[in-house]
Amino acid sequence: MCGIIGYVGGRRDAGFLVIEGLKNLEYRGYDSWGVAWKEGRKIAVCKETGKIGCVDAAKIAKEGNLAIAHTRWATHGGVTTENAHPHLSCNGSIAVVHNGIVENYEEIRRDLIAKGHRFLSETDTEVIPHLIEEEMKTTGDFAAAVRRACLKFEGRFAVLAMHAESGTLVAARTGSPLIVGVGDHEGYFIASDIPAFREHTSTVQYLDDGEMVVTDGRSILFSDLKTGAEREKREIEITWETAQVQKGKYAHFMLKEIMEQKDSIARAVNQDEGEIQTLAEAIRAAQGTFLSGCGTAAKACMAAEYFFSVIAGQHVNFAPASEFKLFHRFLKPQSLLIVVSQSGETADVLEAMKVAKSKGAKVLAIVNTEGSTIAREADYTLHINAGPERAVASTKALTGQMAVLMLIAYAMIGKLPKGRTRLLETAAAINDMLNPRYTSFIESLAEKIKDDKDLYIIGKSWNYPMALESAIKIQEVSYVHAEGFAGGELKHGPIALIEEGTPCIALVGNDEVRTDIINNAIELKARGGFIIGVAPERHAVFDEWIKVPDTDTAQAIVNIIPIQVLAYFLAVKRGKDPDMPRNLAKSVTVK
Ligand code: G6P
Repeated sequence: MCGIIGYVGGRRDAGFLVIEGLKNLEYRGYDSWGVAWKEGRKIAVCKETGKIGCVDAAKIAKEGNLAIAHTRWATHGGVTTENAHPHLSCNGSIAVVHNGIVENYEEIRRDLIAKGHRFLSETDTEVIPHLIEEEMKTTGDFAAAVRRACLKFEGRFAVLAMHAESGTLVAARTGSPLIVGVGDHEGYFIASDIPAFREHTSTVQYLDDGEMVVTDGRSILFSDLKTGAEREKREIEITWETAQVQKGKYAHFMLKEIMEQKDSIARAVNQDEGEIQTLAEAIRAAQGTFLSGCGTAAKACMAAEYFFSVIAGQHVNFAPASEFKLFHRFLKPQSLLIVVSQSGETADVLEAMKVAKSKGAKVLAIVNTEGSTIAREADYTLHINAGPERAVASTKALTGQMAVLMLIAYAMIGKLPKGRTRLLETAAAINDMLNPRYTSFIESLAEKIKDDKDLYIIGKSWNYPMALESAIKIQEVSYVHAEGFAGGELKHGPIALIEEGTPCIALVGNDEVRTDIINNAIELKARGGFIIGVAPERHAVFDEWIKVPDTDTAQAIVNIIPIQVLAYFLAVKRGKDPDMPRNLAKSVTVK
C-alpha cells in the first residue's frame, strides 16, 4: 500500500534522498507518486501518475534540507495527479503525505470549505493539511496543530507533515506503521518501511500506535498523541544488509525469493526449542485455537489445519482475518488465536487480534518482519527469519510460515526433533530440486500454456490449500484466469468448465489421499483436460510431469515451489512484470 518517507537534517539534497528512498518502496504496490521539498521558505511539489522507474531525482528536487514523498495506492478518489500526495494547505506552507483512511473526512471537509478552504483533490488526505492550517490559527505551533488535527480524525492512519517556515517534520500514527531512521550523518528519516532509508542508517526507532514524533533534523521528540506526554524511545539496530533487498543476479525479486527457499526454510526451522514446546503446550491447553491471516498467509493457516489434524490430532479453526470477527462468540479468555503475516502490518489481521484480545484471548503471531506492529502487539511472537520479501507475490514467506506451523504440530506430540529433521531434509531436497535444468523445464511448460485462457489446479489434504495458493500466484503475476479446487469438489460444478486441452495441474503426494487425487485427475482427463502432475512419482494420467522430492508430511511445502516458478515464467512470457502486479499491494494496511 502507500509508501511514505520524509527527511530533515544536515543534507541539502533532501528531495533527492526521499525520491531515491521511495524507489525502494515501489515493491509495496502503487499507482501514483509525489514529492514535496522545502525551497527557501516555500514548498515545491512534483506529482505524477504511473511508476517512478528511472526518474532522475537529482533533476526534480532542487536544494533543501526538508522533504517528504509518497507512493499512492488509490482508495478515495481515482488515479490522477491531483489525487496523488503530497497535499498542501491553502497558504502552501504545509505539505502532508498519508497512509490509511480518514474515515470522517467528508464532515471535516464540509466544515473547512465553510471556513473558506479550497480543495483540489477528491482524497480524504487533503483535509489533513487544511485542518492543520486551521488549527495553527489557534496554537501558532506546527506540532501542536498536527496533534490537534489528528485527534479529530477517525480511522487507522499514519501522517507525515512538513512545515516550511519552522523547518520541521511531524509524524503521527494511529494504526499504519511509521519508523524513524536515525541518520548516520546529522538528520532523521521517517518512513513506512525500513528499506526506504536502510542504505543511510541501520539505527531505527519504532512509533507505536497513538504516538507522535517531531524533529527539526537536530533533535527528535516522541510523545503520546493524546496527552502530549513525552515518550522514551529505544534505538534498535537492524541486522539485515542492504544486499538482501537487492536483486543481485536475478532479473526479478520474485525469482530471487523463490530460489532463496532452500535457505529460508532452514532458517525458519531454526527456532528456540523451549519456546516452540511452550507454544505447543499453550495450544493443547487452549479452549479453542484459531488460525487467521490474509492472502498467501491465510493459505499457510489452512495448510496448518491439516498439519495439526494429521500430525498432532489437534482441532484448530481457520478463518480469513477479514471474516474472523464474525466468530467472536466462540472466543473465551482461555482461547488462543494464531495469526500469520509476512509484513506484520496487515490491517485485517490487526483487527482480528483486537477482537481476540477484547475477549481476553491470547495471540501468537508468526511473522517475518521484525519490529512490525503485529509482532509487537502479540502475546507471543515467532519470526520465520525469511529476510526481506520484496516481490508482491509472497513465496519464501509462505514456506517459512508452513515450516514453523509444522514444527509446532510435531512439538505437540513430543516429536520436535523429528519435525525439525523432516523440514531440514525438505530444505536440502529443495536445494537439489531448484537446479537450472529443473527451472528451464518449467519455463518450457510455461511457454506451452502461456496463451491458454484458463487454468485449474486441484489438490487434496494439505495440497488443497496449495491448489488455492497456486491459483493466487498465477493470477496475481500473469493475469491468467486460474482457480484452485479440492479435487473432490470437481464433480460438483467446476468440471463443467473443462474443455479439450484445458491445462489442469494436480498436486499429488505419496500419502493416504494419492489414489483420490489421481482419480480426480483421471476425471479431468476424460473431459479433455491437459494434465500436469506435480508429484514424487510419474503416473500415466500425467501429460506432463513435474517431479518433486517425496517429503512425506512436508509435501505441501515442496509442491508449491514449482508452481511459484511456473507463475513467474507465465508472467515473464506474457510480458508482465512479476514484481509489480497491477492493482496489488505488498502490505495491505487498510481494511
Ligand atoms: C497482500 C500481499 C500478499 C499477502 C497478503 C497478506 O495481499 O500481496 O502477498 O499474502 O497481503 O499479507 P501479510 O503481510 O499479512 O502476510
